[in-house]
Amino acid sequence: MTRQVDVIAPHGGHLVNRIATEKEKEEFIALGESLPRVRLDEKAVSDLVMIAIGGFSPLQGFMDQKDYKTVVEYMRLANGLPWSIPITLSVSSEVADSLNIDSWVRLDDTEGHFIGVLALLEKYHYDKANEIINVYKTNDLKHPGVQVVDQQGEINLAGPIWLLERQAHPLFPQYQVDPQVSRELFQERGWKTIVGFQTRNPIHRAHEYIQKCALEVVDGLFLHPLVGVTKSDDIPADIRMRCYEILLENYFPPERVILAINPSAMRYAGPREAIFHAIIRKNYGCTHFIVGRDHAGVGDYYGTYDAQYIFDQFKPEELGIVPMKFEHAFYCTRTQQMATTKTSPSRPEERIHLSGTKVREMLRKGELPPPQFSRPEVAAELTKAMRVAN
Ligand code: ADX
Repeated sequence: MTRQVDVIAPHGGHLVNRIATEKEKEEFIALGESLPRVRLDEKAVSDLVMIAIGGFSPLQGFMDQKDYKTVVEYMRLANGLPWSIPITLSVSSEVADSLNIDSWVRLDDTEGHFIGVLALLEKYHYDKANEIINVYKTNDLKHPGVQVVDQQGEINLAGPIWLLERQAHPLFPQYQVDPQVSRELFQERGWKTIVGFQTRNPIHRAHEYIQKCALEVVDGLFLHPLVGVTKSDDIPADIRMRCYEILLENYFPPERVILAINPSAMRYAGPREAIFHAIIRKNYGCTHFIVGRDHAGVGDYYGTYDAQYIFDQFKPEELGIVPMKFEHAFYCTRTQQMATTKTSPSRPEERIHLSGTKVREMLRKGELPPPQFSRPEVAAELTKAMRVAN
C-alpha cells in the first residue's frame, strides 16, 4: 500500500498541461500544411516542451508584452506572481510580418518537423538591450546568455501553445519524469519534503556533500540535471548522466534519490536563473531547492552568493519553495572531510577545490581529478568519456 501525502501546489496553484489531446492533435495535423510556419531553435523547442508539461506553470504559452515587461523590470508576471526569466518566442520582422494576429501558427522543430501550435494573440517589438542588462546584469557579448538574446529576432510572438505529442527523450527516456509523474512518485514514496538539485556539470564531491547535507533534513533528493542547450564547452549531457548513475550506484541509498532530466535550456543568468530554477522544481513537486556558490553563474559576472541574496527580494510564501543555501564547499585536508568555512577551521591552503575550467582542462589532457575533488569511479568515467570525445 502506498502512503498518500500532500504534494506542494505548483506555481500559480495549477499544473499546466498543454499537450494536445488525440482529437486536437488530429485536427492540428489536418490543418498543418495550410498553416504559416515558424521554425524553432533548440532553446525554443525546450521552452515549448517545458510549458506543455507544466514545468513552467503557470505559463500557458509564450509571454505577451504585459508579462514580458513586468518580468524584465520587476521579476514578476503581470498578476504579481514571481517570475524572473522572460519566456519568449523571438522571430525576425520578416517572419513576424508574414503572420496574422488571432490565427494559428505551426511550430516546427530545428529539422522542420511539426511539433506544436501557437494561437498568435500578439506580436511585439521589445527592448533587447534593456532585457539583457536587467536579466544578465551585463551586456558583455562574451556572456553566453547575453549572446543568445543578442542574436535572436526583434519581434516576440505571444499566445498559448499546444505540444502535439510528448515524445520520449532520444537519449534518456528512462529519466524523462515530467512534473505530473514526479509528483506521483513523491506521493508513492511517502516523501513530504523533497529537495531539488539543479546541475549542468559533472558531479563532484562538493555537489555530493551539499546534496547529502540537504538530504539529512528532508525525505528525498530529486537530482535534476539540466540536459537542454548548454554552452559549447560544458560537458555533454550523456557523459554527465553516466557520472550521476555511477555516483548513485555507489554512494547513495537508492530509496532516497530520484534521478530525472530537466529538459530546459541553460541561461547562465546567475541570480535570476536561481529563482527560475527554484520555481521549475516547485512545479516538479519539490519543497526545497539547493542554491550553492555562484548558482547558474558563468565567468566572473556574479558575486559568489548573489544567487542566494536574490531570494530575499521575495516573501517566502510567494515563492513557496524553500531555498537551501550552501557556502562554497571544499575538501579540508586538516579534518579530512568535505566542509565549508562554517564547519572547518582550515586555512585556505588546506582546502582542495577545483574550478570547472580547471577540471575540463585536466580531463582534456587525460589527467584524473584528485579523489578529494571527484569520486574515483566518476573521475575514471569522465576521463574515459572525454578521451573518446576528443
Ligand atoms: S549550475 O550552473 O547548474 O548552478 P553546477 O552544476 O556547477 O552549475 O552547480 C550545481 C549546484 O551546486 C548549484 O546550486 C551550485 O551553486 C552548487 N555548487 C557547485 N559547486 C559548489 C561548491 N564547491 N560549493 C557549494 N556549492 C556548489
